Amino acid sequence: MPLSNNLLLLMLISSLISFCCWEVESIGVNWGTSLSTHPLPPDKVVQVLKSNKITKVKLFDADPIVLQSLSGSNIDVTVGIPNSMLKSLSSNKKFAHTWVHDNLTRYFTNGARTVRIEYIAVGDEPFLQSYGKQFQPFLIGAVTNVQIALTKAKLDNKVKVVVPCHSDAYLSESGLPSKGHFRPDLNKTMMQLLTFLSKQRSPFFVNMYPFLSIHQSKNSSLDFALFKSTAHSLNDGHRTYKNSFDLSFDTLVTALSKVGFPDMDIVVGQVGWPTDGAPNASSSLAQTFMKGLVDNLQSRLGTPLRPKKPPSETYIFSLLDEDQRSISTGNFERHWGVFTFDGQAKYNADLGQGSRKLVNAQNVEYLPSKWCVVNNNKDVTNVTARALEACSSADCTALSSGGSCFNISWPGNVSYAFNSYYQQHDQKADSCDFGGLGLITTADPSVGNCRFAVELRTSTSTSLQLSLLLWWRFLTVTSFSVWLFCVV
Ligand SMILES: *[C@@H]1O[C@H](CO)[C@@H](O)[C@H](O)[C@H]1NC(C)=O
Ligand SMILES: *[C@@H]1O[C@H](CO)[C@@H](O)[C@H](O)[C@H]1NC(C)=O
Ligand SMILES: *[C@@H]1O[C@H](CO)[C@@H](O)[C@H](O)[C@H]1NC(C)=O
Ligand SMILES: *[C@@H]1O[C@H](CO)[C@@H](O)[C@H](O)[C@H]1NC(C)=O
Ligand SMILES: *[C@@H]1O[C@H](CO)[C@@H](O)[C@H](O)[C@H]1NC(C)=O
Ligand SMILES: *[C@@H]1O[C@H](CO)[C@@H](O)[C@H](O)[C@H]1NC(C)=O
Ligand SMILES: *[C@@H]1O[C@H](CO)[C@@H](O)[C@H](O)[C@H]1NC(C)=O
Repeated sequence: MPLSNNLLLLMLISSLISFCCWEVESIGVNWGTSLSTHPLPPDKVVQVLKSNKITKVKLFDADPIVLQSLSGSNIDVTVGIPNSMLKSLSSNKKFAHTWVHDNLTRYFTNGARTVRIEYIAVGDEPFLQSYGKQFQPFLIGAVTNVQIALTKAKLDNKVKVVVPCHSDAYLSESGLPSKGHFRPDLNKTMMQLLTFLSKQRSPFFVNMYPFLSIHQSKNSSLDFALFKSTAHSLNDGHRTYKNSFDLSFDTLVTALSKVGFPDMDIVVGQVGWPTDGAPNASSSLAQTFMKGLVDNLQSRLGTPLRPKKPPSETYIFSLLDEDQRSISTGNFERHWGVFTFDGQAKYNADLGQGSRKLVNAQNVEYLPSKWCVVNNNKDVTNVTARALEACSSADCTALSSGGSCFNISWPGNVSYAFNSYYQQHDQKADSCDFGGLGLITTADPSVGNCRFAVELRTSTSTSLQLSLLLWWRFLTVTSFSVWLFCVV
């Protein structure tokens, strides 16, 4: 065989190898855009994604401003349809068609995409146990109608329909992955969903929460969840599990196999570790978890049931903190971000940028450096009741046991509550009243790890200030003319 042929063969083989096996594991992030009082502007978020070489992003809706900001970015996008739309989508083909037309078609012109939309997530954890049967009956109808609409729009070969499922959709009573199965109440719907996904060659999206198992069952091991090499491993027959991520993944693999889908591709739609609002929710543990997770994925070792086949994509939950997330499962819910609400990295993690430090959001615009605190010159004996009032709408999660502000003393904790309320209301003077017990200050009251935030300037707060300014002008002009009138 001539040398050039050998060389060619070698090149072919090496390029095949680099294509199939040396490819860096796909890590993406979840970007929630609707559960913050003051969301970081989309263009700043996209800058964070780009400067950290994050190549995939999962959204929870299809906000046109957000999608516009991702246009031309080469970032792969998952758009979402909320659970509240499932019923209409399942009963009304036209509605599905309109959704696709309004929210997808415009990003594809003559077969080229301006926004790289890969997946539509229909529903968000629709089978969540605490939802009962609220959404389950509409899921199959909804995915079917969205698929029909996609086909009609000739987008079915570009965009895949998926359904993110919480890991509570499957279980193993003994804790052993080899005994995994889907929740009995789901079996018919799950079979229909898996049949649908398999037919469309779509992956199964699963959201995993190793932190929740720690939080809910004091029994489970923190080290095991954190990928620590010192953790006690768990033996399942001849298979050995060294961390709860692999364990949960293989429990799902078994559940899929049992109902006839042993090879279905699995994407981890959400996985992460919160940093505040509960014991064991901290930046340092989150960093440990993330390092363990990324090393696990990048090793490409896979799991005992899927050796050398790790999840094809994994989406970190979450990119940013959101101060309006429901706290029904716990106060940590508002602290899932790798970055704070204002785009500052809380710790280091490799999201695609390698060993470099994460790059923060740049040129972030804040409201003025003002805070609302308790006025110590007043009789503050009854001030605690005011804090409760503030906390019913403000974000006081950092004050809870294990939180970053748990150990600041009274009435500092009341000040924290007052300030949160004041910032959420765009620092309007009357939002720092609290029956005369509030005081606006320009001295930062933050102590230690307990950060008294200043909120972001958003377009609504700007327009509010603008309207106040206009109103002020109007008043001055009016009073000036009244004065003039009187003089004359
Ligand atoms: C398009 O998506 C947006 C954002 O998710 C949603 O509010 C709107 O209802 C969708 N359009 C249609 C026609 O459903
Ligand atoms: C669904 O559940 C019923 C009873 O809970 C069981 O008899 C049946 O085999 C299950 N079907 C599947 C496909 O798992
Ligand atoms: C919980 O702890 C008990 C007692 O140590 C043990 O018998 C049981 O197997 C544990 N359960 C799990 C799920 O680890
Ligand atoms: C969580 O943190 C608390 C306090 O730091 C600790 O006592 C507890 O053991 C931790 N929980 C687990 C499951 O390790
Ligand atoms: C505090 O509350 C008590 C009981 O409602 C009331 O009698 C008292 O006057 C209050 N003190 C102040 C300073 O408001
Ligand atoms: C409060 O928390 C800070 C930071 O975690 C710690 O340095 C300090 O010792 C704590 N104070 C008390 C009284 O627990
Ligand atoms: C502040 O701390 C005091 C004393 O520890 C406590 O009674 C009160 O409930 C706390 N208030 C808030 C809003 O956390």
